[in-house]
Amino acid sequence: MMTDPTARCSEWLIGPMMARGGVISFYEFMDLALNDPDNGFYSTGRLKIGKDGDFCTSPSLSNDFAYLLAIQVAEWFLDLEKAGSACELFSLVEIGPGEGSLARDLIDAIYEIEPALISKIELILVEKNIGMRKRQENVVNNFKGVNCRWTDLDELMLKPVTGVVIANEVLDAFPVERLVFRDEKVFRQGVSLKKRNDEHFLELVDLKPTSAIKQFIKDSMSILNIEFPPKDIGNGWVTEWHCDVPTWFSKLSKVLINGSLLLVDYALESKRYYNSMRKDGTVIAYSNQEANANILKDAGFCDLTAHLCIESTINYAQTNGWKFMGETRQGQALLALGLSKFIYSLQNTTSEDLSAALNRRESLLRLVDPMGLGEFRWLAFQRDNRNNLNLRNRFLEEPIS
Ligand SMILES: C[S@@+](CC[C@H](N)C(=O)[O-])C[C@H]1O[C@@H](n2cnc3c(N)ncnc32)[C@H](O)[C@@H]1O
Repeated sequence: MMTDPTARCSEWLIGPMMARGGVISFYEFMDLALNDPDNGFYSTGRLKIGKDGDFCTSPSLSNDFAYLLAIQVAEWFLDLEKAGSACELFSLVEIGPGEGSLARDLIDAIYEIEPALISKIELILVEKNIGMRKRQENVVNNFKGVNCRWTDLDELMLKPVTGVVIANEVLDAFPVERLVFRDEKVFRQGVSLKKRNDEHFLELVDLKPTSAIKQFIKDSMSILNIEFPPKDIGNGWVTEWHCDVPTWFSKLSKVLINGSLLLVDYALESKRYYNSMRKDGTVIAYSNQEANANILKDAGFCDLTAHLCIESTINYAQTNGWKFMGETRQGQALLALGLSKFIYSLQNTTSEDLSAALNRRESLLRLVDPMGLGEFRWLAFQRDNRNNLNLRNRFLEEPIS
């Protein structure tokens, strides 16, 4: 295999790679690149989300996203209240809160939509990386008088909560195993350190598959009812496995006594995910608003993301005690929650506000753009320990104009 001259190894990664014998799995590489305590893209807080940052997420475009989502979140809280869920405070849990703007704007919107709920809510943020947490502290601490704390799933499992859990663009940042199919055999993708002319480069290499990888392939065939690998793949076909997601659902099922979980993420149906045409998998790097297929380049200085497989994700949730409530595209979900009303309301803008109105209109359209954020999937699940929950899912209803 030729060394890609653009895949220079980031200076900080040379030591950790050497300490691991010069070859690591892709899973380990992605974990180091994002979460290495001293150099990871997230842990250092180098990641900047927003129009002037590395990439935009829905909440970073405008607070309209949070406002629309808050309509659904408030309804779930009211349904929990109606079901008589006994708890001192309902918890709004956000996992992977990034800049903290979604948590802040959700509280702000709930304050406006259902003011009586605010005194009954606590905010719990689950953030793995200290650099991101520091930024969130400046944004949400004591916002609107709502008590806010940071914790992790292991700690939360000891004192479970009732409420609503949101994870927007988090699971796509979980490290993945990459599988390579070559010469009718499966390999675990690895990353190898190579020295050429005093410079260190990274190369993708084939490693022996683990027994967990072989089991994943068997399980996928029976659960998803697909051929794995699919027919007619080319030599070197690559795909991904979100191997940490089942454990995540299992822990989270012990965190939430009653309530809902909303995942919003890049996701594809299994037939589109495990497809011979998708020969390079879904992992992609992002920095400075640009996507880059060279996923080994600038480790620690760019984001790495992998799509979820929808049916696999649902299966992982169901086998870990979650009831699936439904899924739809973000465009549909936001229209069902009333996005078009926001767009119509901009027609009454006076000429002084024109520039702000145009910016807002552009952000609203980006949220539903089928070529962009509108294609994200919203997947909703619930935990119902008393078998009496009747959660309404307004985001799944047919949008009416
Ligand atoms: C792509 S950002 C998304 C941020 C935010 N949700 C948004 O939509 O703007 C991913 C966030 O998840 C955090 N993260 C990554 N892995 C995590 C994990 N296992 N548990 C909790 N947070 C995690 C990252 O540090 C970062 O804050």
